Amino acid sequence: MASNSTDARVTVVGSLNMDLVVRAPRLPQPGETLAGHTFAQVAGGKGGNQAVAAARLGARVAMLGCVGADPNGAQLRAGLEAEGIDCTALDTGREPSGVALIVVDDASQNTIVIVAGSNGEVTPDAIARHEAALAAAQVVICQLETPPAAVRAALAAARRLGKIVILNPAPATGPLPADWLPLIDYLIPNETEAAALTGLTVESPDDAAQAAAALRAAGARNVLITLGARGLYAALDGAAPALYDAPRVAAVDTTAAGDTFIGGFAAQLAQGAEVDAALRFAQRAAALSVTRAGAQPSIPRRAELDALG
Ligand code: RIB
Repeated sequence: MASNSTDARVTVVGSLNMDLVVRAPRLPQPGETLAGHTFAQVAGGKGGNQAVAAARLGARVAMLGCVGADPNGAQLRAGLEAEGIDCTALDTGREPSGVALIVVDDASQNTIVIVAGSNGEVTPDAIARHEAALAAAQVVICQLETPPAAVRAALAAARRLGKIVILNPAPATGPLPADWLPLIDYLIPNETEAAALTGLTVESPDDAAQAAAALRAAGARNVLITLGARGLYAALDGAAPALYDAPRVAAVDTTAAGDTFIGGFAAQLAQGAEVDAALRFAQRAAALSVTRAGAQPSIPRRAELDALG
């Protein structure tokens, strides 16, 4: 088992999926049957990916979630444990483990369809039962692949416990409930999610600036909109908004790049890094993940980033 010597602690409340990944020349049209290049089955889920990223990038991590009592669940749990992630708060439910059907095209873009399965069994009661996992962390991360009532409970508990609270609103289907925003320190959507949250078109850094301003006007404290190869738009409390350019890399697969960014950012915050340094570190980690295939297999380790200088 890998171990981490630091006292920086991150707890992730979220999803674990078995990713069924097809590489194909392009993304299929409705009604079309398309011949793919390859198939792979790899560990994923936004929660699991963010937990693995935080662990590989320097934090001690706990995972709060739910897998099924099936081979996928056993494999997902074992994968986290192999990274030294504390799975005391990872329940086993009655539903099958979550799955994600992913198509990655030759331009390294993807589409993802998820079936929640046991991720849908994370409840407010589970959050309360596992509050010790939240209490132990400096930083708590949530996404939206678990039921909203559980996410709300986790955000509220983390806020009450005085933690740094990150919400990755993914997938987003519309605006967040207004009473969630005061519970969140860092709201981190991508372009698609920022558009869903605000009702605005978000395709450029200028669009991102408008969306971030709208989210801050609605009560979000710090907004970080990830823009893929175009970088990151950061609207931080008490600072001038800024566009952080992305490191240039040859993209192979963007799956889990956002998760790597979030896990890396959280690991840095838990270690006491300044926000600006944490953002640049997380961008470098995400850029490296894009050069490799798969969700959790693509996430780099701290030593790899250090070796690159
Ligand atoms: O963010 C990438 C992840 O989204 C994949 O691993 C898939 O499981 C979905 O949750």
